[in-house]
Amino acid sequence: MTKQDRVLIFDTTLRDGEQSPGATMSHGEKLEIANMLDEMGVDIIEAGFPIASEGDFKAVSEIAANTKNAQVCGLSRAVYKDIDRCWEAVKHGVNPRIHTFIGTSPQHRAIPDLTMDQMIERIHDTVSHARNLCPNIQWSPMDATRTEEDYLCRTVETAIKAGATTINIPDTVGYTAPAESADIIRMLLERVPGADEIIFATHCHNDLGMATANALAAVAGGARQIECTINGLGERAGNTALEEVVMALRVRNDIMPYQTGVDATKLMNISRRVATVSGFQVQYNKAIVGKNAFAHESGIHQDGMLKSADTFEIMRPEDIGLSETNLVMGKHSGRAALRSKLKDLGYDLGDNQLKDVFVRFKELADRKKEVYDDDLLALVSDENTNSANDHIQVKSLQVVCGTSGPQTADLTLSIDGAETQHKATGDGPVDATFNAVKALFPHEAKLQLYQVHAVTEGTDAQATVTVRMEENDKIVTGQSADTDTVVASAKAYVNALNKLLVKREKSAPV
Ligand code: KIV
Ligand code: ZN
Repeated sequence: MTKQDRVLIFDTTLRDGEQSPGATMSHGEKLEIANMLDEMGVDIIEAGFPIASEGDFKAVSEIAANTKNAQVCGLSRAVYKDIDRCWEAVKHGVNPRIHTFIGTSPQHRAIPDLTMDQMIERIHDTVSHARNLCPNIQWSPMDATRTEEDYLCRTVETAIKAGATTINIPDTVGYTAPAESADIIRMLLERVPGADEIIFATHCHNDLGMATANALAAVAGGARQIECTINGLGERAGNTALEEVVMALRVRNDIMPYQTGVDATKLMNISRRVATVSGFQVQYNKAIVGKNAFAHESGIHQDGMLKSADTFEIMRPEDIGLSETNLVMGKHSGRAALRSKLKDLGYDLGDNQLKDVFVRFKELADRKKEVYDDDLLALVSDENTNSANDHIQVKSLQVVCGTSGPQTADLTLSIDGAETQHKATGDGPVDATFNAVKALFPHEAKLQLYQVHAVTEGTDAQATVTVRMEENDKIVTGQSADTDTVVASAKAYVNALNKLLVKREKSAPV
């Protein structure tokens, strides 16, 4: 494979994705996702914005130190102290990368209040400073697609001369269209001295629903790095979805002859995990990883599928790691069967974790005749999401509900190791439970969303509850699953509060 055939995959789920309001991930969740990205074969992981908070710094440092293959990158503004902090965080990684950016469009230039010449000087100074620390420098002219062509060329030339090795062209507000996205990269390759020595990257937002098309068009124009996120997570309408570009390049390799290093059979599992930890459920009809992406409901489609799968399928479910069998497990299934089933689903659990999951699986199997793949995934996700190290934990809950109110919730929480109990009433069992949480852990956060999804069919199905809360413009999402909807609700609420505690530590990134 030549350099020309290879497209690098730069994943920014943990930076741009996590910037999406409500998508905050805990430290442990970030480490886990980074590990999955590395195992999947992503080339570069943008792990966070180290200057933004102590939490971000710690997450980027640990990810850099623990990642085996991928380059780990941190983001920094065009400011020396950001760049220094970023270097401190990534420097222990394998081939670490500093990514520094400044807004170059007329709309963004006004913010640092620099003249165009002063901005050129700033780009030169900050990129040179970064290059003196690290040989692997990525530079981004933020809002590149709304920047005047001549000025964009000047900024890119300056960054290359100062030592940038990757130039990323962000479509920050999702404004470009495919033909233009390709033309910008072609134009830069033609006009900027030294452009053939570096790699151009494309970073597209999905405001007009064209992020994937724009990224692939940029590759046709000469870009060789795609920036993307799992499930297209990201600010506003999100970023280019990693699973979409990887599968598009694979399925249409005849017209887009480029390779990535991503093992596509890991896509489904990482998609599910990111959906759980971010609290952003994947829409049913989402390309590649949506629940209906491989479902054939209509009679004509089913008939065609029975005769030959390629009548209606351009890829097979197993290509993305979606196992066709949905082997049902029951209360007589043993630990070895559970371990092997979880392995098929992408979870290779250690002995201790398997022990905990097995106990919960047995409890579930006692309550529920058949345990499906989705039940197991919900159970493992819940085990990972609600950790024994959380500040606040649900210890017990008894609820009285029915036609003769008031509905009452008797709740015991452990807060930083100390158990505390309260009985509250409310308008329904969930309201009573939430009132009890508020009494035990007073806070001003407002409930923005309360959502219940049945994991499988039947009245004995587990419920996945999502709770989104807002406090001083900080938004967090909590989740939990249980066959008892009220227990799942209490745990999801507490999960959101734990995330809020993490978020309170963070200062505004820019
Ligand atoms: O969208 C954007 O412009 C960004 C930059 C920081 C690269 O995320
Ligand atoms: Zn972005």
